[in-house]
Amino acid sequence: ALTVTTAGGLVTGAPGHAAPSGWGRPAVPAAAPQPGGSGLGDSYFPDYGNGGYDVTHYDVRLRYDPDTDRLTGTTTILARATQDLSRFNLDFLLDVESVRVNGWQAGTAREGAHELVVTPRRAITAGQQLTVVVRYSGVPSETLVGGYTGWTRTADGAMAVNEPESAWWWFPSNDHPLDKATYDISVSVPTGVEVVSNGVQPRAPLPEAGNRTRWSWRTTSPTATYLAFLAIGQYEIVTDTAPDGRPVVNAYSTTLGELGPAARASIERTAEIVEWGSGLFGPYPFEAQGGVAGPVDGIGFALETQTRSVYGPGFWRRGANTYVVVHENAHQWFGDSVSVADWSDIWLNEGFASYAEWLWSEEQGEGTAQELFDFTYASHPADDEFWQVPPGEPGPARIFDDAVYDRGAMALHQLRLAVGDDAFFKILPAWTAAHRHGNATIAQFRALAEQISGLDLDELFTTWLLTPGRPNVAGADR
Ligand code: ARG
Ligand code: ZN
Repeated sequence: ALTVTTAGGLVTGAPGHAAPSGWGRPAVPAAAPQPGGSGLGDSYFPDYGNGGYDVTHYDVRLRYDPDTDRLTGTTTILARATQDLSRFNLDFLLDVESVRVNGWQAGTAREGAHELVVTPRRAITAGQQLTVVVRYSGVPSETLVGGYTGWTRTADGAMAVNEPESAWWWFPSNDHPLDKATYDISVSVPTGVEVVSNGVQPRAPLPEAGNRTRWSWRTTSPTATYLAFLAIGQYEIVTDTAPDGRPVVNAYSTTLGELGPAARASIERTAEIVEWGSGLFGPYPFEAQGGVAGPVDGIGFALETQTRSVYGPGFWRRGANTYVVVHENAHQWFGDSVSVADWSDIWLNEGFASYAEWLWSEEQGEGTAQELFDFTYASHPADDEFWQVPPGEPGPARIFDDAVYDRGAMALHQLRLAVGDDAFFKILPAWTAAHRHGNATIAQFRALAEQISGLDLDELFTTWLLTPGRPNVAGADR
């Protein structure tokens, strides 16, 4: 059975009216409720995420005007307090009009760049259900942190796509992969503009007053905040059903011009690539799949936004590119389902997605993983800066350094050589099964690899992930 407590833990009437004495009072006074804290103890980004509560669902209801980049909205957060709370934080940048906690207007204050401190009228008790309603507005492209915005305004709309910071510009959140939640995302835009997001459309776009249309998207699998996204603009949306029965939703910006066919020839292979990945990495972890070819003036990278990766235009310049589709879809297992517990574990995302590209190359007959290892090794002379960044501890400024990707893939290839193909291709699905929809660390991966292979892998992991300098490799081309 579920116990539901109301604000304050007991129904005690209007604020200021104390509960009847002796009723519902602990014999020993409990410790005073504490602030939730401004972070989750991440070693690279200590103030990302917040302490004291656990979000289960975000309902993000927005209105957007491409002409002005004005975003207004209401986000309703369903959460559970994990401690007695005097106040708690949300990570958010836009102007907040009001915050209500379980119906009661709460106090708000700003702290640091992205912290919104919420002080409820009455203290919150551990285990209590929280319904936090935040009303807000702003111009996200002009909302800068250190001169930077994670919101990309384009000629035809906008994209909320970035890692690790992207939620700050469009919904208040507990912004760390440790706190996953489900989502309902709806956006009203001028009719004729499309909105694409994660998951599936629970209803067709709904006409609204003022020649507007409201688009709705629903995500039913736990999702990290940086993997929720918006793509607003001129899109052709193509829906289908994959061989595994899941809905496929692909979207193509109509601004791509001569890059359009290459984008389609790549992203249309998502279902095939997901099927191939399922054979190697275990069952596909989510309810839908697909990809978004972003506009020609959009982002300069790709991101594994959950169930629907987003690709910048640069990937299509030399024709179809299935490698980037493999990379982002491999992240659905490695990054999205099994997420980092700490941003210093980024190798668990980028090393694995990069090695998936080598496995795909092997499968396509375009070069074996060994050939790609040898090529990468020879491409970086021993004195190359490349070897100075350890993929297992790259530092907060270098989580997307080439070394995390390429040396990261090399590390996995060395693991494969050390344990043999039988063990290696058992370790991958065992890893995704053990931490499905959760979080994990590099240390846990090493422990699993040691358990399955029966080998001590200390030297291999230390050399390839933690030690600056080019490791010696017997027989490697140099
Ligand atoms: N996880 C993304 C990828 O490798 C990295 C995106 C990094 N770039 C950025 N601007 N945040 O697919
Ligand atoms: Zn990646």
